[in-house]
Amino acid sequence: MCGIVGYVGDEEALPILLQKLNLLTYRGYDSAGIAVSHNGNFYVEKAQGKVGQLEQLIDYSIASGVVGLGHTRWATHGEPSRLNAHPHLDCSGRIALVHNGIVENFLSLRTQLEAEGHTFRSETDTEVLVHLVEKYYDGNVTKAVQLALQQVEGALAIVVLHKDEEDRLVAAKMDTPPLIIGLGRGENHVASDIPALLHYTNKVYVMEDGEVATITKNDVLITNFREAVQPRIYERRVMVIDWPPEVAQKGGYPHYMLKEIHEQPDTIEDTLRGRLLEDGHTDIPDLHVLPEEIRAVQRMTFVACGTAYHACLVAKHLFETVLRIPVQVDVGSEFRYRQPIIGPDEWVVAISQSGETADTIASMREGREQHAKVLAITNVVGSSVARLADGVIFTRAGPEIAVASTKAFVGQLIGVYLLLLHMAQFRPHAHADELQAMAGELPRLAGLVQRLLEDQAGVQDIAGRIAQQPACFFIGRNLDEPIALEGSLKLKEISYIQSQGYAAGELKHGTLALLEEGIPVICLATQPNVYDKMLSNVQEVMARRAWTIGLVPEGDTGSQHLMDDVLTVPRTHPWLSPVLAAVQVQLLAYHCANALERDIDQPRNLAKSVTVE
Ligand code: M6R
Repeated sequence: MCGIVGYVGDEEALPILLQKLNLLTYRGYDSAGIAVSHNGNFYVEKAQGKVGQLEQLIDYSIASGVVGLGHTRWATHGEPSRLNAHPHLDCSGRIALVHNGIVENFLSLRTQLEAEGHTFRSETDTEVLVHLVEKYYDGNVTKAVQLALQQVEGALAIVVLHKDEEDRLVAAKMDTPPLIIGLGRGENHVASDIPALLHYTNKVYVMEDGEVATITKNDVLITNFREAVQPRIYERRVMVIDWPPEVAQKGGYPHYMLKEIHEQPDTIEDTLRGRLLEDGHTDIPDLHVLPEEIRAVQRMTFVACGTAYHACLVAKHLFETVLRIPVQVDVGSEFRYRQPIIGPDEWVVAISQSGETADTIASMREGREQHAKVLAITNVVGSSVARLADGVIFTRAGPEIAVASTKAFVGQLIGVYLLLLHMAQFRPHAHADELQAMAGELPRLAGLVQRLLEDQAGVQDIAGRIAQQPACFFIGRNLDEPIALEGSLKLKEISYIQSQGYAAGELKHGTLALLEEGIPVICLATQPNVYDKMLSNVQEVMARRAWTIGLVPEGDTGSQHLMDDVLTVPRTHPWLSPVLAAVQVQLLAYHCANALERDIDQPRNLAKSVTVE
């Protein structure tokens, strides 16, 4: 998704903007641009392609200024091109604007503005915004932005720089796309994401829906474009972030994804810390649910997108098995449009790494409108998801930079276990011993993941051979099924190999037709209660002479005789096996994509944080 940066202070803005843009590239983009201003000298440059290509085009002898903005674009309206890249300028060339999100009524606005004499140069929806600001400008850029946004429908974050008011940037947020103000000494910053700010400050203000910020080097004034309000005292909502700036660097790893895979033992320990008590009980203050609410809940709906959706599927298995609460799981993009039935005493639980995924946020709003209690498991404090929820479990994975979600997923699974243990304290259930065993095993889990990460020779070898194949399948049953889906998503996302994940018992209902000699099938068999059934499904695959690769607990003998190749995971409680199996399929996908020399951290067509529908 698009990334926005801005700076106002006493330093040269350009190097700061370029560094921040480079820190946002993980969001996915196809073009980039900057604008800086000083003493009436207004410099704008844009390029199709990477930030490096932009850097080559910039004329450094004239690109000077102590205020500026920048942008990485992920195309929605109009193809990736220099013309469609941001910043966009008004007719007079005095106003520069960058935008993340979508202007839904851009066609009618464009027709109206063209009729009023404005000349458009791009195919973007964004350009209507800068012409609207031009239309309403009468010497006060903040006011012009407020009036412009009153005409707009959609979801957006923008930053505006006016040549005639070059001591300030105006930032605004409508609906979902995130916009963060970084508060420095004698300088202030703005960016779409916190990691881009950490080199400059750890004090941040997360903008709320409807807010307009006038940012000068010594001050930030927050108002609202929907109502005439006095500038708001924002200091109370300033957060101090304790992530060190290095979290946004590769730290010696060739890719962020590999670094993040290796950070998973820390994610597990950090997410459990202080919440899982020695006696197996839990303490989760941010969750804000009362014991009587837990006893009363009749049904839970988990909503999420992509990888986070697979964490929801794990939750469904566990919550239904242990607590006997009916659980439905939905992808955010469908839930919101299918008129879901949500009765009294029902909960909607959203899972999201970024906390900014538009479809997940819309699903939470749907739940709220139908009077459900809305909870969230998310990685980003201050994100839209965190703020919308009645209660939250934060996953403490630290910033995830690679587009492919790895440590965040493992953090989400830990969040699911914590929620399960927490609720089980207040609801009668018949699995006390099992749950106690799982809780006892949880503190060992980080060490088991560490052990798995220390020997990657086997998975690297198999991945290298899968890289030569045109397609791949992942199958599993029960708690292995969500990880089969996740392994398949991870592989296709970063290697571009056609891949499908299936409930193993479903293969014979159609997909078996695709199996041919030598096609790899990763067979997950970590769940004892369906182990024999799983081996029967493997036989069906073998009969089609496909290449069977088992993913099984260490010491498993059945698979050694049956499968062509075997990957193992340390033995643990079966309910925790999804964590270890997830790490193994992440490694498989990573090494496969690496063998194919793919752009692992920024796979084609994808964005890290999907802030549009
Ligand atoms: O930030 P979120 O967890 O809400 O993101 C949801 C999906 O967009 C995300 O998990 C996506 O599927 C990943 N790229 C998968 O690796």
